[in-house]
Amino acid sequence: MSASSTKSILVTGGAGYIGSHTVLQLLLSGCHVAAVDNLDNSSHLAISRVSHLAADSANRLSFHKLDLRDRPALERVFSSNKFDAVIHFAGLKAVGESVAKPLFYYNNNVIGTIVLLEVMAAYGCKKLVFSSSASVYGSPERVPCTEDFPLAPMNPYGKTKLVVEDICRDLHRADPEWQIMLLRYFNPVGAHPSGLLGEDPRGIPNNLMPYVQQVAVGRRPALTVFGNDYSTKDGTGIRDYIHVVDLADGHNAALTKLFEKDSKIGCEAYNLGTGKGTSVLEIVSAFEKASGKKIPVVFGERRPGDCEILYAATTKAETQLNWKAKYGIEEMCRDQWNWACNNPYGYGSSDSNPQDEIISTKTKGGGDSWFSDICITS
Ligand code: NAD
Ligand code: UD1
Repeated sequence: MSASSTKSILVTGGAGYIGSHTVLQLLLSGCHVAAVDNLDNSSHLAISRVSHLAADSANRLSFHKLDLRDRPALERVFSSNKFDAVIHFAGLKAVGESVAKPLFYYNNNVIGTIVLLEVMAAYGCKKLVFSSSASVYGSPERVPCTEDFPLAPMNPYGKTKLVVEDICRDLHRADPEWQIMLLRYFNPVGAHPSGLLGEDPRGIPNNLMPYVQQVAVGRRPALTVFGNDYSTKDGTGIRDYIHVVDLADGHNAALTKLFEKDSKIGCEAYNLGTGKGTSVLEIVSAFEKASGKKIPVVFGERRPGDCEILYAATTKAETQLNWKAKYGIEEMCRDQWNWACNNPYGYGSSDSNPQDEIISTKTKGGGDSWFSDICITS
């Protein structure tokens, strides 16, 4: 039980990769959760599976399919609930796509957040946890990155994160009742140990771990390593990979801080990472070990916009949030592989994983479908 248990939390983007893991942790820690998502980059099956994993706690979950920019739909959710805080994951996250379609990204990520903040203010909910990103640091001059480093995102995606951070800082300055945690994630990977929840990227994955996974299951022939001439231990890029379950726990820790008696957090940024740097080739080798599969690699050019080495300073989150990542690369690869084996095509169609049949059979509540018992579609 944490200070945040029994609270009522709105989770935007709750059907997404990090959102679904966090919704599960919140339910298990005693919270009431309303998840909203437009399902543009996720599947309703993620919510079904969260419900299944939450077992008895699932009666504290509701799901609302809506776009954050649909103000009347969002207001309907606020008018029928009294939320103690909002965790705001909903957003678009593909860096390359953001370069090609900047307006699409600013519209979704910035306008969606403004509508959310306005509706929160109208309903007197002024506690927010926002999904920011290490991409706000751009290419830092040194590592580890502390939260006070200059902010210089290098692409429209990262810029939407900085704009929202700035909006939050201004909002708190104008009205100190707002209490806001800006969580800067490093590289979330891995999956729920059950093998039921994980990342399901649409199209060709941009990020390393989902790409490696798809090579391991035979969906792609080889991994192209973007550059092996960096001045790192093996010449390949170094990042701070963090298990998605650790990240979900980090949100629980952030809420606990927000709900501390007389908490005056203000508007604060926290890195959520492990503080450890791992190279591309080290990930490949750890994944080969976890999966027993050979991952063929091809060395290619550096990816434009990539930095050489990025990892987090973790002291602020450790001391102020009392949170520290527990899992290492081995567990990240183990759980990623378990997810891949159970869901080689992600959530795919509803019959892609035989467990979905079992889940829906076991949890049907006598209505049209079990899902409709928790789903309020606006
Ligand atoms: P995701 O795409 O799996 O989840 C985001 C969810 O938000 C999706 O389910 C999508 O359908 C939903 N969504 C998007 N726009 C919406 C809108 N306007 N209204 C309602 N729902 C909407 O991504 P994720 O990996 O779970 O990331 C969650 C958040 O964390 C994002 O804001 C992302 O930018 C941020 N983040 C992610 C990473 C990462 O590598 N995964 C790293 C740093 C920050
Ligand atoms: C990328 C985004 C960043 C975002 C982060 C987490 C870019 C430029 N940056 O960062 O904004 O916050 O994802 O979502 O896209 N790699 C390969 N081959 C591949 C894929 C990746 O060698 O097919 C390498 C990359 O060069 C990098 C490492 O693997 O060295 C990790 O890449 P990735 O998973 O895309 O994460 P980031 O580069 O940290």
